[in-house]
This record gives sequence, C-alpha cells and structure tokens, in this order.
Amino acid sequence: MEAAMRSELKAALALQLAWGADEALEETVQDRLAEAPPRLTEPPARAVPAVAAPPVAAPATGAVARAEAAAEAADSLAALRAALAAFDGCALRDTATHLVFADGDPSAPVMLIGEGPGAEEDREGLPFVGPSGRLLDRMLASIGLSRKAGDVYITNVLPWRPPGNRNPTDAEVAVCLPFLKRHIALARPKLIVLLGGVPARGLLGAREGITRLRGRWRELDGPGLDAPIPTLPTLHPAYLLRNPGAKRDAWNDLLALRRRLDSILPQMRQN
Ligand code: URA
Repeated sequence: MEAAMRSELKAALALQLAWGADEALEETVQDRLAEAPPRLTEPPARAVPAVAAPPVAAPATGAVARAEAAAEAADSLAALRAALAAFDGCALRDTATHLVFADGDPSAPVMLIGEGPGAEEDREGLPFVGPSGRLLDRMLASIGLSRKAGDVYITNVLPWRPPGNRNPTDAEVAVCLPFLKRHIALARPKLIVLLGGVPARGLLGAREGITRLRGRWRELDGPGLDAPIPTLPTLHPAYLLRNPGAKRDAWNDLLALRRRLDSILPQMRQN
C-alpha cells in the first residue's frame, strides 16, 4: 500500500476515534446464536472427497439448554462464576474485556439486579462502578444502605458488556437467565430490587414497560428457592440520569424498599 494511502487511512481512523467510535460494529445486531440462514444458492462443487457436513451453528435453544445445565451444576457462587467464565454459548463474552459477576456481600438481605455492564464496569470487572453506579450508591445511601458496608449484593442480567452499550438481544438475555436464576438461588436474598426493564421482563416475564411495573412488589419463584422472594421493579439509575424528573418515583420505591427491609430485619436477627 502506498505511504500516502496509508496515512489517509490512519487519519480516517483517528477521526472515527475522536468522534467516539471505539468499537468495530455493524449497523444491525447480529444474533450469533440463531440458526444459520438457508443458502440461496448451492455452493460450487469441490473436487475433494465427500466428508460429513459440518454442524450448523447451534440454535438458541441449544445454548440455553447448555446454560441451564452449567448453571444447575454450580453448587456455590465461586462455581457459578467459574461456570460462566467457561461458558462459550454467548458471543458477548468474545467482545467483553472482563466477566462482571457481582459486588457487595452475597449474604446481604437485598440483591440488586441491573441490566449489564457498561464501559467502566467492563474495564474494572465490577457492576455499577460508572456514572449509573455512582448514582445508585447515592440512592442507597439515602435510605441508609451501602454496598461497602455489606448491606446489598449487586449483579446484572448480562455478565458481559454488549459492545457499544447497545441493548441486549432477546437471545442474549435468554442464554444468561439460567445463570442469573441460579445466582439468586445460591445467594438466597430476602428481597430483590430489579433495576430497569431488562431484569423486570427477564425474571418476572412481564410485558409492560418499567414505568408501569415499578413500585409494585411481586413474588419471584423458581427452582432452588425455598420460598418466593418479594421483588420490587424500579427505574434504572441510567434512566434517572437522563430523566431527573423521574427521581421522585424512584425515591418512593426506595422508601418502599426501606419499609419492607425494616419489617423483616427483626425476624432476621432472631434467626
Ligand atoms: N448498568 C447496569 O445495568 N449495570 C451495570 O453494571 C452498569 C450500568
């Protein structure tokens, strides 16, 4: 390649970076778990001996079944983390820098579940350490809770960052859910808070948007749970950063969480 063309290409790349394009992405989300599309034309005949056809890309259901088996086999949080790290059924793992498993105290009474890591979480390998996380910490402090003091345990539906912070596909959520459900069964929180629509839809199977779902306690049941867990959907801190007017609703939800926690703490102290 000529030197002039090379430096032109370098300048074009530098411009992309300056504009904030830090990932090589396609215009549309590629569902790499879906079955390979049918070929429109036959491939040209090859002058090689016939061999068995290569397996087609695993359909989403295969990856979900493998996720379920891997998650169920994990008998501790450490084993679950290792199972996730070894799981190759979700392409997000290939573009992420770190697996983001959890933060806080796994024996805390409250488990908070977000959507998935952003850029800072991906760099540090911890959930909610970027701008949303800083707001979340302030929200928790306003009702006397702190992740550093071990009052809460925090995780996400997705343990890997979707490139460019795009929304996760349904297939990505479906393949990560078995790990999240096992995570809940192993941590056994007394209360769960769902931050935003992705965890609310994924775990509660709800169809409404989060602005309708928020503020109403639900019971989350499932395999491995001794009893249904009271679960409160609320607004995601990233949404609150974009819509400060909605902080009032989030504040009401936080007060509801504080009241519920206060009602179970004496019971917990007795046990
Ligand atoms: N948003 C989330 O949902 N989770 C994180 O960890 C960070 C931002």
